Amino acid sequence: MNVAAPAAAAPGVLLALANVESAYGPIKAIRGVSLEVRRGQIATVLGSNGAGKSTILKTISGIIDPRRGTIEFQGTPIASRDPSDIVRMGLSHVPEGREVFPLLSVRDNLLMGAYTRGDRDEVARDMELVYGYFPILKERAAQDAGLLSGGQQQMLAISRALMARPQLILLDEPSLGLSPKLTKEIFEIVVRINRERGTTILLVEQNANMALNAADYGYVLENGRIVMEDRCDRLREKDDIKEFYLGMKEAGVRGERRWKKKKTWR
Ligand SMILES: Nc1ncnc2c1ncn2[C@@H]1O[C@H](COP(=O)(O)OP(=O)(O)OP(=O)(O)O)[C@@H](O)[C@H]1O
Ligand SMILES: [Mg+2]
Repeated sequence: MNVAAPAAAAPGVLLALANVESAYGPIKAIRGVSLEVRRGQIATVLGSNGAGKSTILKTISGIIDPRRGTIEFQGTPIASRDPSDIVRMGLSHVPEGREVFPLLSVRDNLLMGAYTRGDRDEVARDMELVYGYFPILKERAAQDAGLLSGGQQQMLAISRALMARPQLILLDEPSLGLSPKLTKEIFEIVVRINRERGTTILLVEQNANMALNAADYGYVLENGRIVMEDRCDRLREKDDIKEFYLGMKEAGVRGERRWKKKKTWR
């Protein structure tokens, strides 16, 4: 029998966005974004301050509903679905600014990440697994999450996402406000999680250097539109990217760009 595959489900594609548009009231934040993330891959969306990176992730995870376009995860349409249904399907979102529960302990924050799961023994095993990646979280397990440093909170936010045993993690600017050293450490562990667990990752970043080194495939977003895409090894060699995203000039692929003000380093 010859059964036609759904239109967007090219082999190996875990997540596919086609012509997605999202807005905040009258402000169109993303304007017809199409992108694909393949199973097992780290994909990245690069873009400067206000380009629409976080809006893409919020639209995928169901926090905001798109005005137009389609989003398919594992071949199933998910646009406008309830965020908790999307988590249950295997998609976890690590939001910008981490957003851990400051008055809950580190351990309870991790358990919150597993709220969709009923398999207690496996949850306990996954807790040990995340402690393996981030031993400091085991040391601080009983402490309030609000007392952790910025870098440790980022580790906790990533770990909380892992506790849902996701197929895909959406990771919003893990480098934000962190020192270069901590950023490097966190990126190394993200790559290890991808390689060792096979977890697919969609990473959005202003730190093009770190993102292009960690990811396999990249998209460049300017003013809510994808203006370029390629394998990251090729993007790193492109003159526009070298000049505008690896820190040498003040104009983007399409005109001026602004650098985000650094929030405090912790
Ligand atoms: N809650 C909101 N209400 C109104 N406008 C918003 C809201 N959130 C974002 N925007 C606007 O939507 C556009 C895209 O914002 P978004 O946060 O997605 O960008 P970003 O690429 O994640 O930027 P950053 O690098 O600063 O995190 C910007 O013009 C922003 O001002
Ligand atoms: Mg953002």
